[in-house]
Amino acid sequence: MLVNAKEMLDKAKAGKYAVGQFNINNLEWTKAILLTAQECNSPVILGVSEGAGKYMCGFETVAAMVAAMDKSLGITVPVALHLDHGSYDACYKCIKAGFTSIMFDGSHFPIDENVAKTTELANAAHGLGLSIEAEVGAIGGEEDGVIGKGECADPKECKMIADLGVDFLAAGIGNIHGVYPANWEGLSFETLDAVNKEVGEMPLVLHGGTGIPDDMITKAISLGVAKINVNTECQLVFAEATRGYVEAGKDKQGKGFDPRKLLAPGFEAIKAKVKEKMELFGSVNKA
Ligand code: 13P
Repeated sequence: MLVNAKEMLDKAKAGKYAVGQFNINNLEWTKAILLTAQECNSPVILGVSEGAGKYMCGFETVAAMVAAMDKSLGITVPVALHLDHGSYDACYKCIKAGFTSIMFDGSHFPIDENVAKTTELANAAHGLGLSIEAEVGAIGGEEDGVIGKGECADPKECKMIADLGVDFLAAGIGNIHGVYPANWEGLSFETLDAVNKEVGEMPLVLHGGTGIPDDMITKAISLGVAKINVNTECQLVFAEATRGYVEAGKDKQGKGFDPRKLLAPGFEAIKAKVKEKMELFGSVNKA
């Protein structure tokens, strides 16, 4: 059931669990995540970066695919289709294409410009029933060409952006996209606690979910994180399972080259990873 992400995240924050955002890349990814959410009776957010949107022939194709698949698979759990790290233009494109949620990443703008653009986009999104995520303090690392330094957010700036009427807020707390380097210092719970105290009931978003140790995830949820983004980890398990199939020579046995067979181990690996995360985040049976 396609919905915006506001209600599911308000409930998650109040119930002290988090909803997973899993980024999609193609039909297999989307199907694996939707089926797992249904099996786990969990709400879910499908994240689409600008790069992945382009790869899948544009946001209109993505929105049409997700809407049709949601219906054909008989998905009854709440599903939000969300633009991940959107530019100003991409936000408008997704609003028009039929997404149910957008993220405006204005973290690289001076705060006044971030405020002005976020306010305008929040009005545009809400006017059509979409939810909106904003960001303060860049998430480190690189995701589909979006590069951030990984600074911690200023709690006062978080409060300023939260007061613009956005529905959930990504605050940098030392988190990084992609695999964490060996010398990573961990999440700054001091920053998270301060941000959470400033923003009150607003759900907080933790980007860079790949590779954050389980105990840090649990602690982050206890301090107000209600949405956790996972992308790289699904890519890694998909690649590993596919490599295993090819290295075992299975593509050369019988009709093992059939794409439906070749992609099956990766598909199952994504399902297992998404289930593991939903259990860790506490969203199972919260649909
Ligand atoms: P990872 O790729 O590190 O899991 O981060 C995903 C993310 O934050 C998407 O916005």
